[in-house]
Amino acid sequence: MTDPRSGGIAVIDFGSQYTQLIARRVRELNVYAEVFPFDAAQEKINAHQPRGYILSGGPNSVYEVGAPQMPRWLVKNYPILGVCYGMQALTHALGGIVAASNDREFGPAQIRHTVANPLLNNLPDNMNVWMSHGDRIEQPPAGFVGLAASDNSPYAAMGDPARKLYGVQFHPEVAHTPQGKDLLRNFLFDVCGCEPKWSPVAFIEEAVKAIQQQVGGERVILGLSGGVDSAVAGALLQKAIGDQLTAIFVNTGLLRKNEPEQVVQVFREQQGMNLIAVDATEEFLDQLKATTEPEAKRKVIGKLFIDTFATQARELAHEGVKFLAQGTIYPDVIESAASSKTSHVIKSHHNVGGLPPDLGFQLVEPLRDLFKDEVRNVGTALGLPDEIVWRQPFPGPGLAVRCLGEITWKRLETLREADAIFTEELDKAGMLRQGTSQAFAVLLPVKSVGVMGDYRTYEEVLALRAVTTDDFMTADWARIPYDLLAKVSNRIVNEVRGINRVTYDITSKPPGTIEWE
Ligand code: XMP
Repeated sequence: MTDPRSGGIAVIDFGSQYTQLIARRVRELNVYAEVFPFDAAQEKINAHQPRGYILSGGPNSVYEVGAPQMPRWLVKNYPILGVCYGMQALTHALGGIVAASNDREFGPAQIRHTVANPLLNNLPDNMNVWMSHGDRIEQPPAGFVGLAASDNSPYAAMGDPARKLYGVQFHPEVAHTPQGKDLLRNFLFDVCGCEPKWSPVAFIEEAVKAIQQQVGGERVILGLSGGVDSAVAGALLQKAIGDQLTAIFVNTGLLRKNEPEQVVQVFREQQGMNLIAVDATEEFLDQLKATTEPEAKRKVIGKLFIDTFATQARELAHEGVKFLAQGTIYPDVIESAASSKTSHVIKSHHNVGGLPPDLGFQLVEPLRDLFKDEVRNVGTALGLPDEIVWRQPFPGPGLAVRCLGEITWKRLETLREADAIFTEELDKAGMLRQGTSQAFAVLLPVKSVGVMGDYRTYEEVLALRAVTTDDFMTADWARIPYDLLAKVSNRIVNEVRGINRVTYDITSKPPGTIEWE
């Protein structure tokens, strides 16, 4: 089978906040797409022989000094779709005229399809689209015609179908352009002639071969955190190299209810993995004793985690293990490439970042090309259970950031029980995968008075936190039905010793954060 990454789309990044979304949408159509900085080398961009190029939007104006320009080698007869700034860069490169518009067009707009063409084929005559631009096309390059118009712009879409060159002023990649995916589908299959061959199963076959080729007969270690990325990386490595893999799992005592047991059960028993499970609970509790300040807690945990992991890793290095696998995923790679302007610096993975360099491991990163949703699909295709594949994000410092005040085993157990009830009820109501992006309990170091039966109680307060978000940078509090909150509150106060009051956090981010710390 040919490489499922070949014959896809190269997305040239001019700095839009939506660039990654373009690649995701293309991949949702089963065509591989990769993002490159606009000034990446031609050989790099063409490494997987893309059939077409999409030029992203961006914040600049094409005539500004230092504005990013379309790569010169692209000014040939390749299929190109320019989006917003990408359209302006294409226009500028091919001799058209871009003008600053008096009316900045931002938000929803309607476009009218004016000329039949492959890009807009089978799309409605009038379409709602999402605009976000200042400049607009004054005069398209020679050979181009307007394909659709908006009130503000006679060239909301333009093209030179004979040369397979197109530009759109709006953003087809965002959900606010309802027919955007159909437009991208037309571009991929009708204009570029791509084949829909990118799928989790195709990826697994290729990744297994690539891992085997990279590591040969050598051994590999992997840090398993219980999170989705390292779990899927582990399952993939296990399939590729079986016994050559040793996974290390550190139980910090700060994980959720049943999590350590589940990791051992799934990976050692179900997947048959060589798994070293280190129970470092006592060391963590001991070093966290009397630490209540959030940053101080984080420092203690970060350092002890690395020390514990490094001790195991060092032993394995002495046994001759040469490779360290990490669950780095594509957004990590793109973000670090974009911010550093060099594409191979990798954001340190929170669980193993900072590993002493003297260990000298070579990295294996089998998920570097995948978006989060693709990681989940691959995990499912590898037979991992839903509880792991669909797990919500969990912070590296674990329950330490949710057990405010002093961290003791007793308080952690109280928090774990309450958190498990919240999770269980959300799950029953179908709100763990839809309706909340992250939901958890927070134990507060605050006591208040209550009454239970004939007794006065004086116990701690528990806060429930649930948010919806796409990117975890901003978030809104989840509108959980009152009846569900009532049930959760009732169960927690009745079933969990040490809590007599439950509150629901109705703060969005900003100004709040998701975790309380
Ligand atoms: P905040 O609380 O900053 O959280 O709104 C945003 C997202 O990041 C997660 N988070 C962490 N993840 N290590 C991690 O791996 C950390 O130290 C950490 N702190 C916060 C948080 O759970 C949320 O998803």
